[in-house]
Amino acid sequence: RFAYVNGRFVRHGQAAVHIEDRGYQLADGVYEVWAVFDGKLADAEGHFARLWRSLDELRIAHPMSEASLIVVLREAIRRNHVREGLVYLQVSRGVAKRDHAFPSPAVPPAVVITARSVDRAAIEAKAAKGSAVITVPENRWGRCDIKTIGLLPNALAKQAARERGAIEAWFVDDLGLVTEGASSNAWIVDAEGRLRTRDTQANILRGVTRLTLLDVIAQAGLPVAEQPFTVEEAKSAREAFITGAGSLVTPITSVDGVKIGDGTVGPVASRLRALYIERAR
Ligand code: PDD
Repeated sequence: RFAYVNGRFVRHGQAAVHIEDRGYQLADGVYEVWAVFDGKLADAEGHFARLWRSLDELRIAHPMSEASLIVVLREAIRRNHVREGLVYLQVSRGVAKRDHAFPSPAVPPAVVITARSVDRAAIEAKAAKGSAVITVPENRWGRCDIKTIGLLPNALAKQAARERGAIEAWFVDDLGLVTEGASSNAWIVDAEGRLRTRDTQANILRGVTRLTLLDVIAQAGLPVAEQPFTVEEAKSAREAFITGAGSLVTPITSVDGVKIGDGTVGPVASRLRALYIERAR
């Protein structure tokens, strides 16, 4: 395997960043994840747009043009022989003597890219069985719209989920409303049969998969509302699912141990998964 580190491809096992990289010391960086279908990036433009926005919000310089980035991402896919997989990109503010404030003069941002294959058939078989989520109190900062590498609350939430046999943890705010998952957006088909996912005015990541799926849903003519839902509404929903570059559209069949509907994968979630993958290919 090969990783891209600051301008060149190196063996994955030898790939390293400096100990004073601000990403390493301060989580001062952003990232993106793309699904790869048939060797091609899914939802490429949506992820690029969000990457530039995350960098701009944190006043980190763009490390390269979009055209150059596309070339490097394609090369990462090619060198790692990825047909079905994931590409990870991270940009930190760069390497400088430790100081919370930005380095002055500015240093070049540090870029790391990895690409790996996934076993789509195995994932598909797993998704067809349905998965569990748990809920945890929302304890993140107020800028979850920026895709930063500061993921400790997400990591702790995901670990709590894993320890309880769940694939995802949903953050729940003070009003009892689900914000989003540790690494995905949260959806239900409510008791009235309406698709529901939280609006992006809230403190959540503007999921690229979420946005594409909203378009898929509009094309399919299904009723949908960008409206938050409570944990209680999720428990009494007809269906639930999560979306993200890693999970695509993954059906959820229980929330905090409570079965959703009859506890099997619902027709809407499985149809939307198929439609999303068809669109991404
Ligand atoms: N996570 N919400 C959070 C907190 C996320 O970390 C992610 C993605 C999403 C879904 O966004 P998108 O559809 O653009 O992937 C929502 C990536 C996959 C990760 O951390 O690995």
